[in-house]
Amino acid sequence: MDRFAARSLALRPAQRRDREDILHVLLHSEVFGLADADCVGEMFDETWAKPRPDGYRWLTAWLGQSLVGFACYGAEALTQGTWDLFWICVLPNYRGQGIGRALLEAVLVDAQRESARLMVIYTSSTPAYAPARSLYEAAGFVCVARVPEYYRPGDDLCIYWRRLG
Ligand SMILES: CC(C)(COP(=O)(O)OP(=O)(O)OC[C@H]1O[C@@H](n2cnc3c(N)ncnc32)[C@H](O)[C@@H]1OP(=O)(O)O)[C@@H](O)C(=O)NCCC(=O)NCCS
Repeated sequence: MDRFAARSLALRPAQRRDREDILHVLLHSEVFGLADADCVGEMFDETWAKPRPDGYRWLTAWLGQSLVGFACYGAEALTQGTWDLFWICVLPNYRGQGIGRALLEAVLVDAQRESARLMVIYTSSTPAYAPARSLYEAAGFVCVARVPEYYRPGDDLCIYWRRLG
């Protein structure tokens, strides 16, 4: 975050008009593809079509007029205070400068403000997701379970977990 102080990194909840910029970040992520963009688009549309306090939350990261990253998170239905981080992504040209960390920290603060008890993150075991796994571990998440070949052969599900509060 400090590295962006001079350039004014701003974090703010997404507006409905941010849909295309969010999909742009996702489609240029170098890890996500069209199926992921469809999924994010559906989640985004649902957020605005059926606004609910326990619906998806979207946080965007801005440098000036450019949306350079986002996170999507929210409470997990049928649990007592368990929240999920569903998506987090920063445009490649802006990585390694503290934006992902700033987004994740703000997600944790918001969840804690809502008395969240736990946060859980699903991610992949492949090398492309090594930065994400490091980001989660640096933020105090622990990989508590690994489901072999969950996504596809050679691509395990890693479930990250952190107690909040
Ligand atoms: C994961 C991601 C959001 C990190 O964003 P970022 O802005 O580059 O991350 P930051 O600069 O805030 O880094 C914070 C910490 O994450 C870890 N990290 C980030 N990039 C890393 C890399 N390339 N290699 C290893 N660790 C890395 C480090 O622990 C880092 O802390 P440090 O700078 O003190 O070493 C970004 O790499 C991304 O968008 N990846 C593609 C999408 C993705 O994988 N999303 C998660 C899917 S579950």
